Amino acid sequence: MQGTAIYPGTFDPITLGHLDLVQRASKIFSRVILAFATEGKSTMFSLDERMAMARESLPGVENVEIESFDGLLMKYARERGVHVIVRGIRAYSDFEFEFQMALTNRKLAPDVETMFLMPNEAYGYLSSSLVREVAKLGGDTSDFVSGPVQQRLDRLGAG
Ligand code: PNS
Repeated sequence: MQGTAIYPGTFDPITLGHLDLVQRASKIFSRVILAFATEGKSTMFSLDERMAMARESLPGVENVEIESFDGLLMKYARERGVHVIVRGIRAYSDFEFEFQMALTNRKLAPDVETMFLMPNEAYGYLSSSLVREVAKLGGDTSDFVSGPVQQRLDRLGAG
């Protein structure tokens, strides 16, 4: 499909589930912007680290660009001239929040559509927050994240 999609998130850190979704989106759209939110949540990794981990985890995926945005996602989409947002739905439990967010965004920017993709079912249970928790408590996260992310978790003395 021609056109650009924004895949926004905190990605703290990016998981194998996120990477699976980026790859799927990159086959559907000619360009995908992986957009890192700078505000909103206190994060384990800095913005620079989160973006670097994504870059290092996506070698050879040529049509994915990594950017960050401040403030409202719809304002950023407008500024970039992008009309499609991609988000992942792992299980029904994700749906309510994603639906709320998509419809709020539609109210703010009626010309922007949100599309939901499902990651590989093998990653259906994965989340950044659980990766952070397991890593902080000294558990093995190597099945959940890419090599570059695991190296950073190891460097923090966790994971
Ligand atoms: O990875 P996350 O934390 O689920 O991503 C949530 C994110 C960053 C996509 C969402 O919080 C967001 O869009 N934040 C930007 C601020 C904004 O536009 N808020 C209104 C959304 S309805």
